[in-house]
This record gives sequence, C-alpha cells and structure tokens, in this order.
Amino acid sequence: MLAKVTSCALLGLQGVPIQVEVDTSRGKPMLIIVGLPDAAVKESSERVRAAIKNSSLRFPMKRITVNLAPADIRKEGPAYDLPIAVGLLLASEQCWPDRVDGAMFVGELSLDGSVCHVNGILPIAAAARERSISRLFVPAVDAGEAALVEGLEVLPVDHLSQLAAHLQGLSPILACQARPEVASAGLPPYASDFCEIRGQEHVKRALEVAAAGGHNVLMVGAPGAGKTLLARSMPSILPAMGIDEALEVTKIYSVAGLLPSETPLVRHRPFRAPHHTISHAGLVGGGHWPRPGEISLAHRGVLFLDELPEFGSRTLEGLRQPVEDGVVSIARSTGTLSFPARFMLVAAMNPCPCGYAGDPLRECTCAQSTVTRYQRRVSGPLMDRIDIHIEVPRVDVDKLTSDTLAEPSSAIRERVEQSRVRQRERFPGRPWMCNAQMGPADVREICVLEEEGSALVRAAMQQLYMSARAFHRILKLARTIADLAGSEGIKTPHLAEAIQYRPRRAV
Ligand SMILES: Nc1ncnc2c1ncn2[C@@H]1O[C@H](COP(=O)(O)OP(=O)(O)O)[C@@H](O)[C@H]1O
Ligand SMILES: [Mg+2]
Repeated sequence: MLAKVTSCALLGLQGVPIQVEVDTSRGKPMLIIVGLPDAAVKESSERVRAAIKNSSLRFPMKRITVNLAPADIRKEGPAYDLPIAVGLLLASEQCWPDRVDGAMFVGELSLDGSVCHVNGILPIAAAARERSISRLFVPAVDAGEAALVEGLEVLPVDHLSQLAAHLQGLSPILACQARPEVASAGLPPYASDFCEIRGQEHVKRALEVAAAGGHNVLMVGAPGAGKTLLARSMPSILPAMGIDEALEVTKIYSVAGLLPSETPLVRHRPFRAPHHTISHAGLVGGGHWPRPGEISLAHRGVLFLDELPEFGSRTLEGLRQPVEDGVVSIARSTGTLSFPARFMLVAAMNPCPCGYAGDPLRECTCAQSTVTRYQRRVSGPLMDRIDIHIEVPRVDVDKLTSDTLAEPSSAIRERVEQSRVRQRERFPGRPWMCNAQMGPADVREICVLEEEGSALVRAAMQQLYMSARAFHRILKLARTIADLAGSEGIKTPHLAEAIQYRPRRAV
C-alpha cells in the first residue's frame, strides 16, 4: 500500500514542496526513511511510532519505507513527523486520501502525540500559496504566523488524535480565521531618546543623515564619550517599517527560529548588536545547516558593531560583499544559498588601545606603532564602504549638567521620514529604495552635479586619494543631505558636508 502526503523543505528562505511517500509491505516490522534525511529526520521514526500509539491509533506492524522526494534536497529538522504520521495513517487505512490531497502538512510530534512548533512556517506558507495548495496543516502555536499569508486555509493542529479525527471526518478542525493585525503597529518603546543626549550635535546630525539615506556610519572617540549611547538611540529615529518589509524580515526570523508565537510579525526595524567574540558563521550566516547570521537578522534595520577593531579580521572581511550587495551568498557542497542582508552598519571604536589618542585633556599612552596597528585591524576596503566617519569628542561638563533637553527623537524621525518619501518618489516601482542602495546607473542619472560642485569633488578626490567607490558614495550621501534639506538639486554645501564625512586616512 502506497500513500503520498505533501510537506515542505526550506532552502534558505525558500520553501520547496516535498512528497512524503509511505509504503507498507509484508516483512519484518521496521521503519526506514530514505531521501537525504538528516539525523533529526531519521529520529522521526521513533517519535512517530510513540505519537501514533499514544493517540489511540494503530501503528502498522509491517515493513515501512518512507521516501522524501525529491531525493537531491537535504531534509533537516523534525517538521516531517506530522506528514510521515499522516502517511502511515493513510497506508494503514485509518484515514482516506480525499482529505489529504491538495493539503500540505508540517509539524513536529512529541511522544504523547501533541504537535509542536517548527521553524520557517511563514516561508512554508508562502510556498504553499505559490503552488496553489489550498490547505496547510500547521502546529497550533504557529497558526498565527501561517495566517499572515493571504488566500490560504490554515488548519491549526494541537494533537495527532485531533488531526486523525479531522481526516476521518469525525470532528473537523476549524480553519484559523484570525489574521494577525498587520496594520501599522505604532512605535515601540525606545531604549533611549536623543533628547537625553547632551551636546554631540554634529554626531546627531551625522546619524540623522545616515538614517535618512541608509548610509553606514563609524563613530570614533574616547571611552565614555557616548558612542554606544548614540548608536543605541538610532532605532528611535529610523523610519517606520512598511508591511512588505515587515514580512520580509519576519521570514528571516521565522527560519532562524527567533519568532515569538504571540507576535508572529516583526513590526519594528531590527537592531542587532552582536558581541565582538562572534564567529564568522554567527555574523554572516552559515553552519552545517545554513542559518541566517546577524547581518541577515539586521536586514532592513541596524547592525551595530561596538568596539569594531576587536572583531576578528576574517569576520569583518566577511562583511564586505554583503555591505555592497545587500545579500549574502553561502556556498554549500549542494549549491549556493542566499539570505537577504540589506542593513545599515553602525560601528564604534576608540582611536587607540588606551582610548585617548587625540584627546585634548588626557594624554595617550600608546606608542605610535600600536595606534597604527590598532587602526589597521579594520581593513581599508571595509572603511571605504563606510560613508560617514565621525569623531565623538568628550562633552563639556557645562553641557552635561545643564537641564535643557535636546531635540527629541520624534522630531528627527519626522525629517527622516520626509526625506524617505522624497527618495521613494524618485524610485517608482522599487519599493524600499533609499539613496545608499542606488546602483551606478542610478547615481549617474540622479546625482547630477553643477559645475561648482564637480570642481569641488574633483579637488577632494585628489587630496583624499579617493577611490571610484568613494566618489559614488559621496554623491549618494550628498543626495541624502539635499533630500533632508528639501532641495531638488545637489548644491555645493550638500557636497561639502558629504565630503567632510569621508575618512581622512588614505584607504
Ligand atoms: N552626551 C551625553 N549625554 C548624556 N550622557 C552621556 C553622554 N555621553 C555619555 N553619557 C553617559 O556616559 C555613559 C557611557 O557612554 P557610552 O556610550 O557607553 O560611551 P562610549 O561607548 O563612548 O565609551 C552613558 O551611558 C551615559 O550615561
Ligand atoms: Mg562603548
């Protein structure tokens, strides 16, 4: 007796339908799983056996072969427990194919028969809808996440016996009606507000420009100058995230298994601040079963790297390609996987190991060679990809002790949002474009300079030994500054401000 049930595998963020074929034949009772299963899938046989028994169903005492097709895709994780169990019920005639055809099943079984959470439900549901599958059976805890996909009947399953009763036509499972609230979520409570930060007006201005155009920033300054505080306040001035962006980010968190079941949609821009001891795979993604790294978890948000030179140099070099392309490609023996990684890099560092190089009040105790070596830990090519380099000086005591609050984050965010509206109008049909993402063709078309401006850039290029990349990046940054000022064209002051954000050190 042969039974077929549809399930789904994940390749990166892509769901790929899998046929679970269950064959029972006479012979010594045993269960074999074939079709490139990993250890968790192989263990499935034990979970399914116990779950079926403990759900008052019959486990067929036959020779059982389970094939997961197509065989060239690696099957990982416990999500095939549920379709294998359904296949066994079909093969042993405890339910009939009419209710299984045209449906997709995913879920892990626990030994008592209850159905547990699996990762990646959102991309699986999206794949089901793309393939015109009308019904998706998911663990009840994941139903809200699956219901984010419109035009799909989502059936939440708590327990295998409940599913069996549904498939036998005894007691139907009700489809999940409640589509999670996807309208604008309002603003989250922020860790800190710009109004609490005294002084540092020019740093705040630089961060405003960065937020407006999605540019990368590096802050350099003595310990305690407020770099970490400023970076952690970034989320409070970032523009709100649209629903399409939110779904994109949610897919990544879903695959990484970081989505809380009570809030199935990531509504706010991510802010990721990994520690400098993070591994290469942890930062850019990868591992035996490729997982999204911190750069993908920061997609459409901020990746904050505090104490930048402390990160491993190989780890940092791994950032170069994704910073440029907005995706990270991970090569596997079975092919290449890619994860989106369109993040804004915010980095902070001390100028030298002791932290006081260039400080007007305190003497630096480092040898010049040590300072140079410290700064070299961050390679030139990475520095070149950071548009805004800004010094964070210590704040005056007078300013620190004054009672006047600075401009609140909400006012800054207002300006950032307005400049984003201008940017969106410029790129019709490309939903999330901001200036930092422009390609060379866009730069040529959009960042046209007046005569005075091009003379200024030419002089700066010569004096600062700038690369072609730096030239394009300056134009994009100047475009953002012009957008913040509400100016149609890029004027000389906008260019001058953009140029002064470039690093002084030749790269
Ligand atoms: N401009 C500022 N306004 C108010 N408090 C500040 C300012 N700069 C620093 N601080 C205080 O000093 C603390 C340390 O700052 P931090 O951001 O950790 O410095 P850094 O990362 O540059 O070493 C902050 O948590 C904050 O309490
Ligand atoms: Mg710090």
